[in-house]
Amino acid sequence: MAYGRVLVTGASQGIGRAIAETMLAEGWGVVATCRAPDKLAPADRLDGVTYLAFEATDPQATAELARQAGEVDVLINNAGASPIGPAEEALPAKVREHFQLNLFSAIQLTQAILPGMRERRQGTVIFIGSMRSEAPSPFSSLYSASKAAIRSFAQCLRMEVEEYGIKVCVIAPIFIRTRLGQELLMRTGSPYAAAVDRVRASRARQIAAAAPAGVVARTVLSILRARRPRPLYFSGRFARLQGFLTQHLSRSGVEAIMARRFNLKG
Ligand SMILES: NC(=O)c1ccc[n+]([C@@H]2O[C@H](COP(=O)([O-])OP(=O)(O)OC[C@H]3O[C@@H](n4cnc5c(N)ncnc54)[C@H](OP(=O)(O)O)[C@@H]3O)[C@@H](O)[C@H]2O)c1
Repeated sequence: MAYGRVLVTGASQGIGRAIAETMLAEGWGVVATCRAPDKLAPADRLDGVTYLAFEATDPQATAELARQAGEVDVLINNAGASPIGPAEEALPAKVREHFQLNLFSAIQLTQAILPGMRERRQGTVIFIGSMRSEAPSPFSSLYSASKAAIRSFAQCLRMEVEEYGIKVCVIAPIFIRTRLGQELLMRTGSPYAAAVDRVRASRARQIAAAAPAGVVARTVLSILRARRPRPLYFSGRFARLQGFLTQHLSRSGVEAIMARRFNLKG
């Protein structure tokens, strides 16, 4: 594995931080982003990492980030959040905000970094997607849809840039024990309130019992070590089994499992 420079978005905590820490330990130069690097607690800050400010909901922010990051060998599009609420009730401004954070910013940043990789005829772009692209769950419509779009975008891109020596992969974490943002997007007096509460409780239980963020960092390393990495990697507890099921069960079968797993019917 040749060392160089990696840019990881959303690395103040959780999966992004674990990736930054692991890559640093492996000898990579690490540039990491978060919204307010100046306010990072000393315990969260990694010595040797260069932190840049990046607000992913600002469509203008990616060009400046790409300029400041300079030459990037590995781009890891990780920043994201997982809003929860009824598909019927998400306000248009919130729909746009979450798609900007989870999807558009990753596309824009990738577009800004790719020309340099193409000229150097090498590079790796990793998108941190989600299992929700393969198994959408109730009340995660914006999240599941944005992660499904990332997965398709990445798969197209992968075929387009292969001839320039650039590798593109998606990691689909299952549940990982982090503080992933779960903004509640629901109207007061919503008829869905009880069902949303059950799903939130079920999610919280699954996250509490999930694998730590380092699991995803190890998946990143296995991608970087592979001569020909696969398009999609599942990561987390029982990743292989869960990946197999979502890829081989019928769509109705996946839907039935999701409804049961998230305690939809009470
Ligand atoms: N945890 C899971 O179970 C799980 C499962 C599947 C996929 N994922 C994906 O993994 C990625 C990382 O999630 P995580 O679980 O590690 O969550 P996390 O601990 O909340 O970390 C999210 C990171 O994204 C950054 N971020 C959040 N909002 C941002 C914004 N508006 N602009 C720029 N940066 C922003 C945060 O930095 P600041 O707040 O400091 O700016 C933070 O560093 C996400 O894409 C998520 O969808 C997570």
